[in-house]
Amino acid sequence: MAPHTEQLTRPAVRLRGLTRSFEGRTVLDGIDLDLPAGQFTALLGHSGSGKSTLLRAIAGLDHGVAGGGRLTAPERVSMVFQDSRLLPWRRVLANVLLGLEGKDAEERGRAALTEVGLGGRERAWPGELSGGEAQRAALARSLVREPELLLADEPFGALDALTRIKMHGLLRELWKRHRPSVLLVTHDVDEAIVLADRVLVLDRGRIGLDLIIDRPHPRSYREPVLGEYRERLLAALGVTEDHA
Ligand SMILES: Nc1ncnc2c1ncn2[C@@H]1O[C@H](COP(=O)(O)OP(=O)(O)OP(=O)(O)O)[C@@H](O)[C@H]1O
Ligand SMILES: [Mg+2]
Repeated sequence: MAPHTEQLTRPAVRLRGLTRSFEGRTVLDGIDLDLPAGQFTALLGHSGSGKSTLLRAIAGLDHGVAGGGRLTAPERVSMVFQDSRLLPWRRVLANVLLGLEGKDAEERGRAALTEVGLGGRERAWPGELSGGEAQRAALARSLVREPELLLADEPFGALDALTRIKMHGLLRELWKRHRPSVLLVTHDVDEAIVLADRVLVLDRGRIGLDLIIDRPHPRSYREPVLGEYRERLLAALGVTEDHA
């Protein structure tokens, strides 16, 4: 088997019976899931369904997770959130380089900023960036660590519609170039179908729907064929189109 094929068939993330409860309330109820290396997956689910809890578990940030469950995840994991979480007292480049070592770190940081369209803004303060620019800087900070797995928790949730669409293009482009596995949490069914090759719905602590979106990219929200996927996802979320 060619190394490339082998890499694609070996799961980057493997969950078996992953369980998480808070004060006796079960949020993740024995989740089984494999995410193949290099796959772009979106995760949908109602507010409070446990999406962030699942991401934190995969990122290794939740020490209370388990209950007999097993979790395998890559070593190099990066996370991006709805807010950029840039340190306001450090310039943009310093934020990107935070905790990074090696003599070529600065060069890599500059290259990452250029990749996200922030070349020339290295010395800006986070407070001088727009919301979209700050999210770009957050993406650069993730990228520079060359993650095998990128976990994104509603990274575009706070952006206006136009900026969002631009960020979709950018994320997809970065993914194509670097090929990390991506797990993107979103509330937005259209965002999930336009960006991801696989969409999961988290429902009552389980993966209620696991849907492969086998359509070429770039995709448009308006492609009629995507409507079928949309309907299935909305049904899994318990939403009818009239109320969406
Ligand atoms: N540290 C915690 N202590 C107690 N309960 C928690 C904790 N973290 C999460 N929960 C509970 O677990 C449930 C799932 O929360 P989580 O943040 O994972 O939901 P979510 O799907 O990300 O929601 P949203 O879409 O609103 O971000 C919620 O009911 C929440 O109150
Ligand atoms: Mg959340």
